[in-house]
Amino acid sequence: MNNEMILDLMKSRRSVRQFKQTPIPADQIENCINVARLAPSAKNIQPLEYLYIDEKEKVDAVFPFCKWAGYIDPKGNPEKDKTPVAYLFVLVNKNHIESDFFKYDVGAANENFIISALSYGIGSCWLLSINRPKLRELLNIPEHYNIDSAIALGYSDEKHVVVETEHDIKYWKDDDKTFFVPKRKVLNVYHKNKIEIK
Ligand SMILES: Cc1cc2nc3c(=O)[nH]c(=O)nc-3n(C[C@H](O)[C@H](O)[C@H](O)COP(=O)(O)O)c2cc1C
Repeated sequence: MNNEMILDLMKSRRSVRQFKQTPIPADQIENCINVARLAPSAKNIQPLEYLYIDEKEKVDAVFPFCKWAGYIDPKGNPEKDKTPVAYLFVLVNKNHIESDFFKYDVGAANENFIISALSYGIGSCWLLSINRPKLRELLNIPEHYNIDSAIALGYSDEKHVVVETEHDIKYWKDDDKTFFVPKRKVLNVYHKNKIEIK
């Protein structure tokens, strides 16, 4: 893969909330977790562990405990036959943490995982709005793990359009179910040598 392809892949990543019902090959997920594992880690403590759920019964049981696209709720929810086919739960092993630096580890590892998955054509949505107590009970996650986030997974069945914005950052969906994602303009976020208010 050349440089241009890597950048295009990263730029093309969007949060997917409508999924085809095609199963994901487990060996590809293992490769993606391997890339997540190699992400930067504050003090190199590496407190993150990963629980992958792809058994249909469990996947369906997880779904009610996730919230989607808060600005346009319920319009952004996965439709009945377009729900995720798997989830990755990102767990923080409390036996290994001494500060809240692990939050940065999660950011780096999740993005590594998400981009790796996309390199296999697998779409994803990073989820913080999850019902942690219910998920802990459902998935039997021991107390010495914090449930940080979930990553919903599956092949995308949704069209996304990025729009440049200066102000309004709220995403929306049109009547054709295309998902529009405003992104701040590069000139408004990139400062070279000095800060100029634009
Ligand atoms: C830390 C974090 C938490 C998020 N939590 C949720 C969530 O709970 N539900 C959801 O539908 N999307 C969630 N998202 C996805 C964001 O809504 C999405 O990244 C943002 O709207 C920009 O769209 P894009 O990812 O397509 O570029 C989350 C993203 C991040 C980085």
